[in-house]
Amino acid sequence: MVRAILAGFMAVGLVAAPLAFADVNKGKALFNNAEKAQCSVCHAFGEEVIGPSLAATGKLHTKPWLVGWITNPSKTWAGKDAETVGMKKRLKKTKAPAPEHNPPPLTPEQAGDIADFLLTK
Ligand code: HEC
Repeated sequence: MVRAILAGFMAVGLVAAPLAFADVNKGKALFNNAEKAQCSVCHAFGEEVIGPSLAATGKLHTKPWLVGWITNPSKTWAGKDAETVGMKKRLKKTKAPAPEHNPPPLTPEQAGDIADFLLTK
């Protein structure tokens, strides 16, 4: 019985691991797609382009915040949560994000894949 349960957990792990990996890869591809998501037009890792370096995203942001920011930057910007307030302070931003942060509309699933990729940074 215990063995069967353990085997079950292992099987789930084996299935889940490649799936999580696939999301990171999908997110990376989207991030670098200059037509679809356009992130890489403005962002790099380790240097400022038009937008800030995203090299520390894994330390600065959570997945729900990233999905919100990518799908609805204006709404996120208006939030009083510590993550948003902290970002404005860190980047010395007082003006609303639009039109700079206005990537084309992405589905929450696509935004989630991009977030998974950014959280590896
Ligand atoms: C037209 C330029 C532009 C595009 C396209 C763009 N960004 Fe940004 N991004 C910015 C700027 C500028 C900021 C700084 C906040 C602001 O002024 O809106 C920012 C902020 C961010 C932050 C917060 C950084 C921090 O230090 O907390 C993240 C995360 C982010 N962008 C991710 C993305 C992702 C993912 C995409 C693609 C879906 C994207 N951005 C597309 C310009 C852009």
